[in-house]
Amino acid sequence: MGVLADVKIISMKGVGKCYSHNRALIPVIRNVDFELGVGDTCAIIGPSGSGKSTLLNLIGLLDFADEGEYLLMGQPVCAMHSDELAALRKMHIGFVFQNFNLIPRLSVIKNVALPLRYRGIDRNQSMAQALQMLQRVGMAQRAHSMPADLSGGQKQRVAIARALVGQPSLILTDEPTGSLDGQTASAILELLLSIQQEQRVTLVVVTHDHQVAQLMHRQVMVHGGRVEEVRKCEP
Ligand SMILES: Nc1ncnc2c1ncn2[C@@H]1O[C@H](COP(=O)(O)OP(=O)(O)OP(=O)(O)O)[C@@H](O)[C@H]1O
Ligand SMILES: [Mg+2]
Repeated sequence: MGVLADVKIISMKGVGKCYSHNRALIPVIRNVDFELGVGDTCAIIGPSGSGKSTLLNLIGLLDFADEGEYLLMGQPVCAMHSDELAALRKMHIGFVFQNFNLIPRLSVIKNVALPLRYRGIDRNQSMAQALQMLQRVGMAQRAHSMPADLSGGQKQRVAIARALVGQPSLILTDEPTGSLDGQTASAILELLLSIQQEQRVTLVVVTHDHQVAQLMHRQVMVHGGRVEEVRKCEP
Protein backbone atom coordinates (compact mmCIF):
# COMPACT_ATOMS: atom_id res chain seq x y z
CA MET A 1 0.00 0.00 0.00
CA GLY A 2 1.79 3.16 1.22
CA VAL A 3 2.83 5.50 -1.58
CA LEU A 4 0.87 3.80 -4.38
CA ALA A 5 -2.32 3.91 -2.37
CA ASP A 6 -1.95 7.68 -2.08
CA VAL A 7 -1.53 8.36 -5.78
CA LYS A 8 -4.59 10.01 -7.26
CA ILE A 9 -5.35 9.38 -10.88
CA ILE A 10 -8.17 11.92 -10.78
CA SER A 11 -8.36 14.84 -8.38
CA MET A 12 -11.04 17.50 -8.93
CA LYS A 13 -11.73 20.38 -6.57
CA GLY A 14 -14.55 22.88 -6.97
CA VAL A 15 -15.06 21.99 -10.63
CA GLY A 16 -17.95 23.63 -12.49
CA LYS A 17 -19.19 23.62 -16.06
CA CYS A 18 -21.86 25.77 -17.74
CA TYR A 19 -23.50 25.54 -21.14
CA SER A 20 -25.26 28.42 -22.86
CA HIS A 21 -28.96 28.07 -23.65
CA ASN A 22 -30.76 31.00 -25.30
CA ARG A 23 -27.87 33.29 -24.37
CA ALA A 24 -28.09 32.33 -20.69
CA LEU A 25 -25.32 30.37 -19.03
CA ILE A 26 -26.77 27.32 -17.32
CA PRO A 27 -24.59 25.45 -14.83
CA VAL A 28 -24.58 21.72 -15.52
CA ILE A 29 -22.23 20.71 -12.75
CA ARG A 30 -21.19 22.86 -9.80
CA ASN A 31 -18.49 22.76 -7.18
CA VAL A 32 -17.58 19.12 -7.75
CA ASP A 33 -14.92 17.47 -5.60
CA PHE A 34 -14.00 14.03 -6.90
CA GLU A 35 -10.98 11.80 -6.43
CA LEU A 36 -10.04 8.35 -7.71
CA GLY A 37 -6.90 6.34 -6.98
CA VAL A 38 -4.90 3.72 -8.88
CA GLY A 39 -6.97 0.65 -9.71
CA ASP A 40 -10.24 2.10 -8.36
CA THR A 41 -13.50 1.43 -10.16
CA CYS A 42 -16.35 3.92 -10.02
CA ALA A 43 -19.84 4.10 -11.49
CA ILE A 44 -21.36 7.49 -12.28
CA ILE A 45 -25.13 7.26 -12.03
CA GLY A 46 -27.97 9.79 -12.09
CA PRO A 47 -31.03 10.85 -14.08
CA SER A 48 -30.93 11.59 -17.79
CA GLY A 49 -29.63 15.12 -18.42
CA SER A 50 -28.04 15.38 -14.96
CA GLY A 51 -24.52 15.84 -16.32
CA LYS A 52 -22.95 12.36 -16.23
CA SER A 53 -21.50 12.56 -19.74
CA THR A 54 -20.44 16.14 -19.10
CA LEU A 55 -18.46 15.00 -16.06
CA LEU A 56 -16.95 12.07 -17.96
CA ASN A 57 -15.92 14.41 -20.80
CA LEU A 58 -14.21 16.72 -18.31
CA ILE A 59 -12.38 13.77 -16.73
CA GLY A 60 -11.31 12.57 -20.20
CA LEU A 61 -10.11 16.01 -21.35
CA LEU A 62 -12.69 16.02 -24.13
CA ASP A 63 -14.17 19.18 -22.60
CA PHE A 64 -12.96 21.75 -20.10
CA ALA A 65 -14.20 23.12 -16.80
CA ASP A 66 -15.12 26.77 -16.37
CA GLU A 67 -13.97 26.77 -12.79
CA GLY A 68 -12.11 24.70 -10.23
CA GLU A 69 -8.97 22.64 -10.32
CA TYR A 70 -8.37 19.30 -12.03
CA LEU A 71 -5.22 17.25 -11.58
CA LEU A 72 -4.93 14.22 -13.85
CA MET A 73 -2.17 11.95 -12.50
CA GLY A 74 -0.97 14.86 -10.44
CA GLN A 75 -0.70 17.21 -13.42
CA PRO A 76 -2.76 20.43 -13.46
CA VAL A 77 -4.86 20.24 -16.59
CA CYS A 78 -5.97 23.91 -16.59
CA ALA A 79 -2.43 25.14 -17.18
CA MET A 80 -1.82 22.94 -20.23
CA HIS A 81 -1.82 23.79 -23.94
CA SER A 82 -3.97 21.78 -26.29
CA ASP A 83 -1.03 19.75 -27.63
CA GLU A 84 0.05 18.83 -24.09
CA LEU A 85 -3.54 17.81 -23.29
CA ALA A 86 -3.74 15.68 -26.42
CA ALA A 87 -0.47 13.96 -25.48
CA LEU A 88 -1.69 13.32 -21.94
CA ARG A 89 -4.94 11.88 -23.29
CA LYS A 90 -3.16 9.64 -25.80
CA MET A 91 -0.73 8.26 -23.22
CA HIS A 92 -3.00 7.75 -20.25
CA ILE A 93 -6.68 7.46 -21.18
CA GLY A 94 -8.65 4.79 -23.04
CA PHE A 95 -12.28 5.37 -24.05
CA VAL A 96 -15.07 2.85 -24.62
CA PHE A 97 -18.30 4.26 -26.04
CA GLN A 98 -21.84 2.93 -26.24
CA ASN A 99 -21.70 2.90 -30.04
CA PHE A 100 -18.21 1.42 -30.20
CA ASN A 101 -16.82 4.23 -32.42
CA LEU A 102 -14.64 1.90 -34.48
CA ILE A 103 -13.25 3.42 -37.66
CA PRO A 104 -15.28 1.75 -40.43
CA ARG A 105 -12.63 1.87 -43.17
CA LEU A 106 -9.97 0.18 -41.02
CA SER A 107 -9.77 -3.55 -40.29
CA VAL A 108 -10.21 -4.76 -36.70
CA ILE A 109 -6.47 -5.10 -36.09
CA LYS A 110 -5.74 -1.66 -37.53
CA ASN A 111 -8.40 -0.13 -35.27
CA VAL A 112 -6.75 -1.73 -32.24
CA ALA A 113 -3.23 -0.71 -33.35
CA LEU A 114 -4.27 2.92 -33.83
CA PRO A 115 -3.54 4.25 -30.30
CA LEU A 116 -0.03 2.78 -30.56
CA ARG A 117 0.52 4.27 -34.02
CA TYR A 118 -0.60 7.67 -32.63
CA ARG A 119 2.11 7.34 -30.01
CA GLY A 120 4.72 6.86 -32.72
CA ILE A 121 5.23 3.11 -32.20
CA ASP A 122 6.27 1.44 -35.47
CA ARG A 123 3.81 -0.52 -37.57
CA ASN A 124 5.12 -4.03 -36.89
CA GLN A 125 5.27 -3.61 -33.15
CA SER A 126 1.85 -1.93 -33.08
CA MET A 127 0.29 -4.75 -35.09
CA ALA A 128 1.94 -7.42 -32.89
CA GLN A 129 0.65 -5.78 -29.69
CA ALA A 130 -2.78 -5.30 -31.26
CA LEU A 131 -2.94 -9.00 -32.12
CA GLN A 132 -2.03 -9.96 -28.54
CA MET A 133 -4.77 -7.72 -27.22
CA LEU A 134 -7.25 -9.19 -29.71
CA GLN A 135 -6.31 -12.63 -28.40
CA ARG A 136 -7.03 -11.42 -24.87
CA VAL A 137 -10.56 -10.30 -25.81
CA GLY A 138 -11.21 -13.44 -27.90
CA MET A 139 -11.23 -11.67 -31.27
CA ALA A 140 -7.92 -12.69 -32.86
CA GLN A 141 -9.65 -14.83 -35.48
CA ARG A 142 -11.45 -11.69 -36.73
CA ALA A 143 -8.32 -9.51 -36.88
CA HIS A 144 -8.71 -8.85 -40.60
CA SER A 145 -12.49 -8.41 -40.64
CA MET A 146 -14.04 -5.00 -41.13
CA PRO A 147 -16.05 -3.52 -38.23
CA ALA A 148 -19.30 -3.61 -40.25
CA ASP A 149 -19.10 -7.41 -40.40
CA LEU A 150 -19.10 -7.84 -36.60
CA SER A 151 -21.96 -8.16 -34.09
CA GLY A 152 -22.44 -5.49 -31.40
CA GLY A 153 -20.76 -7.61 -28.73
CA GLN A 154 -17.82 -8.35 -31.04
CA LYS A 155 -17.45 -4.65 -31.85
CA GLN A 156 -17.36 -3.84 -28.15
CA ARG A 157 -14.65 -6.48 -27.57
CA VAL A 158 -12.59 -4.80 -30.27
CA ALA A 159 -13.26 -1.38 -28.74
CA ILE A 160 -12.10 -2.70 -25.34
CA ALA A 161 -8.93 -4.07 -26.96
CA ARG A 162 -8.32 -0.67 -28.57
CA ALA A 163 -8.88 1.18 -25.28
CA LEU A 164 -6.51 -1.07 -23.33
CA VAL A 165 -3.78 -1.92 -25.85
CA GLY A 166 -1.55 0.95 -24.73
CA GLN A 167 -1.93 0.07 -21.01
CA PRO A 168 -3.51 3.40 -20.06
CA SER A 169 -3.88 4.53 -16.44
CA LEU A 170 -7.56 5.33 -16.85
CA ILE A 171 -10.46 3.81 -18.78
CA LEU A 172 -13.56 5.93 -19.30
CA THR A 173 -16.76 4.38 -20.57
CA ASP A 174 -20.16 5.92 -21.25
CA GLU A 175 -22.89 3.24 -21.22
CA PRO A 176 -20.53 0.53 -22.55
CA THR A 177 -23.28 -2.09 -22.56
CA GLY A 178 -26.16 0.21 -23.51
CA SER A 179 -26.41 -1.13 -27.07
CA LEU A 180 -26.12 -4.83 -26.14
CA ASP A 181 -28.57 -7.53 -25.05
CA GLY A 182 -28.42 -8.66 -21.40
CA GLN A 183 -26.29 -11.77 -21.87
CA THR A 184 -23.78 -10.06 -24.17
CA ALA A 185 -23.67 -7.07 -21.82
CA SER A 186 -22.72 -9.30 -18.86
CA ALA A 187 -19.96 -10.99 -20.85
CA ILE A 188 -18.56 -7.63 -21.97
CA LEU A 189 -18.60 -6.25 -18.45
CA GLU A 190 -16.91 -9.35 -17.08
CA LEU A 191 -14.19 -8.99 -19.73
CA LEU A 192 -13.70 -5.29 -18.98
CA LEU A 193 -13.40 -5.92 -15.25
CA SER A 194 -11.02 -8.84 -15.62
CA ILE A 195 -8.63 -6.79 -17.79
CA GLN A 196 -9.09 -3.85 -15.40
CA GLN A 197 -7.83 -6.07 -12.57
CA GLU A 198 -4.95 -7.52 -14.60
CA GLN A 199 -3.69 -4.09 -15.64
CA ARG A 200 -4.72 -2.39 -12.38
CA VAL A 201 -6.20 0.40 -14.44
CA THR A 202 -8.64 2.92 -12.95
CA LEU A 203 -12.12 2.52 -14.43
CA VAL A 204 -15.00 5.01 -14.60
CA VAL A 205 -18.33 3.79 -15.99
CA VAL A 206 -21.31 6.03 -16.69
CA THR A 207 -24.36 3.81 -16.47
CA HIS A 208 -28.12 3.74 -16.02
CA ASP A 209 -27.89 0.07 -15.12
CA HIS A 210 -27.89 -0.66 -11.39
CA GLN A 211 -26.42 -4.11 -11.86
CA VAL A 212 -23.46 -2.59 -13.70
CA ALA A 213 -23.05 0.09 -11.02
CA GLN A 214 -23.07 -2.54 -8.26
CA LEU A 215 -19.98 -4.18 -9.73
CA MET A 216 -17.84 -1.06 -9.11
CA HIS A 217 -16.08 -0.26 -5.80
CA ARG A 218 -17.67 3.15 -5.74
CA GLN A 219 -20.86 4.72 -6.97
CA VAL A 220 -21.38 8.45 -7.26
CA MET A 221 -24.59 10.14 -8.31
CA VAL A 222 -24.79 13.33 -10.33
CA HIS A 223 -27.84 15.17 -9.08
CA GLY A 224 -28.75 18.86 -9.15
CA GLY A 225 -25.31 19.63 -10.54
CA ARG A 226 -23.52 18.04 -7.57
CA VAL A 227 -21.70 14.75 -7.21
CA GLU A 228 -22.78 12.72 -4.19
CA GLU A 229 -21.16 9.57 -2.88
CA VAL A 230 -23.66 6.71 -2.98
CA ARG A 231 -21.42 3.86 -1.94
CA LYS A 232 -17.74 3.37 -1.29
CA CYS A 233 -16.03 0.11 -0.47
CA GLU A 234 -12.38 -0.83 -0.40
CA PRO A 235 -10.99 -2.37 -3.61
N1 LIG B 1 -22.49 20.74 -25.87
C1 LIG B 1 -23.55 21.13 -25.14
N2 LIG B 1 -24.10 22.35 -25.34
C2 LIG B 1 -25.15 22.76 -24.59
N3 LIG B 1 -25.71 22.02 -23.62
C3 LIG B 1 -25.22 20.82 -23.38
C4 LIG B 1 -24.11 20.28 -24.13
N4 LIG B 1 -23.84 19.04 -23.67
C5 LIG B 1 -24.73 18.79 -22.70
N5 LIG B 1 -25.55 19.85 -22.51
C6 LIG B 1 -26.62 19.94 -21.51
O1 LIG B 1 -26.07 19.60 -20.25
C7 LIG B 1 -26.97 18.81 -19.50
C8 LIG B 1 -26.29 17.51 -19.08
O2 LIG B 1 -26.04 16.73 -20.24
P1 LIG B 1 -25.30 15.32 -20.18
O3 LIG B 1 -25.17 14.85 -21.58
O4 LIG B 1 -24.06 15.47 -19.40
O5 LIG B 1 -26.35 14.46 -19.35
P2 LIG B 1 -26.34 12.90 -19.00
O6 LIG B 1 -26.47 12.80 -17.52
O7 LIG B 1 -25.17 12.25 -19.63
O8 LIG B 1 -27.69 12.40 -19.68
P3 LIG B 1 -28.05 10.98 -20.37
O9 LIG B 1 -28.23 10.02 -19.23
O10 LIG B 1 -29.34 11.26 -21.06
O11 LIG B 1 -26.95 10.60 -21.29
C9 LIG B 1 -28.22 18.63 -20.36
O12 LIG B 1 -29.17 19.57 -19.95
C10 LIG B 1 -27.73 18.93 -21.77
O13 LIG B 1 -28.75 19.50 -22.53
MG1 LIG C 1 -24.96 10.84 -21.17
